[in-house]
Amino acid sequence: MAISFKDKVVIVTGAGAGLGRAHALEFAKRGAKVVVNDLGGKVDGSGGGSDAANKVVEEIKALGAEAIANGASVSDRKGAESIVNDAVSKWGRVDVVINNAGILRDKSFAKMELDDFELVLKVHLLGSVYVTKAAWPHFVKQNYGRVVMTTSSSGLYGNFGQSNYGAAKLGLVGLMNTLKLEGQKFDIRVNTIAPVAGTRMTENLGIPEAVFNQLKPELISPAVLYLASDDAPTGTIIEAGAGYYAKAQVVESKGVKLGQNVSVDDFAANFEKIADMSEAKPFDNGSGVIAKIFTP
Ligand code: NAI
Repeated sequence: MAISFKDKVVIVTGAGAGLGRAHALEFAKRGAKVVVNDLGGKVDGSGGGSDAANKVVEEIKALGAEAIANGASVSDRKGAESIVNDAVSKWGRVDVVINNAGILRDKSFAKMELDDFELVLKVHLLGSVYVTKAAWPHFVKQNYGRVVMTTSSSGLYGNFGQSNYGAAKLGLVGLMNTLKLEGQKFDIRVNTIAPVAGTRMTENLGIPEAVFNQLKPELISPAVLYLASDDAPTGTIIEAGAGYYAKAQVVESKGVKLGQNVSVDDFAANFEKIADMSEAKPFDNGSGVIAKIFTP
């Protein structure tokens, strides 16, 4: 049976453009009632207004579906709460939060102003915390919730000039790792998308036009909707771009046990074995590491 979001209330942050807009439209097409949040600023986060969100709400209504606009900033605590409050006062519940809003303030670490570092952390990482935190009590009460974080290959693997963005983006994976555990008994599932898409955020990177055109935002939405569906996994990171989909994961090598008396020379002599990833495995949670250390 086709995946449906009938009767589900879905929040998509930063849904006035790019990926968020594509997700919001697809949720609406599949029956969801959608809160379209967008601050309406530029890629660097400056400026703002509700026009972007209102436009997408009109597009959704033209499809015959229900949506409301919210123009708050996710990085403002009260603003983030207002997104959830708008959903609950209009439709009485919230089922899904897609944390998508984001900005860029790229510069090499040497040249980066700390204010730009903090702002990027605030929008991506704390913005996702604030909106998810406001929705969490509703999820717990109704024994149901779905959250999707938006990370990036810049966070998972690094990218020149994006120390602020990369730190924020990998922070979201850390947030997911604990929320997936704390949400388990309430059927709250938390996943992460790592998109590659042609949007205004990526339009000035010198990507050839033929490639850019294949990186359609609409090709990320199927993965996002699956990660927010009733049958979603939890704690899963999916890379997606131009029709490519893959799972990403943090793994640890088999490791070496060198006993209780180890010098730096011993470590150096074993480094190759320690760093041998041929039998690497992931862990479901942090205590798995302690269990591994003490399991003969
Ligand atoms: P975009 O710039 O087209 O869309 C981002 C939207 O977020 C904008 O409409 C903007 O107004 C909104 N926004 C920014 N700050 C906000 C705030 N404080 N509160 C509410 N809304 C806010 O960019 P795109 O590409 O659609 O990005 C969406 C997400 O995907 C971002 O989190 C981005 O970091 C992430 N991403 C995008 C990639 C790509 O290839 N396009 C790659 C990896 C991650």
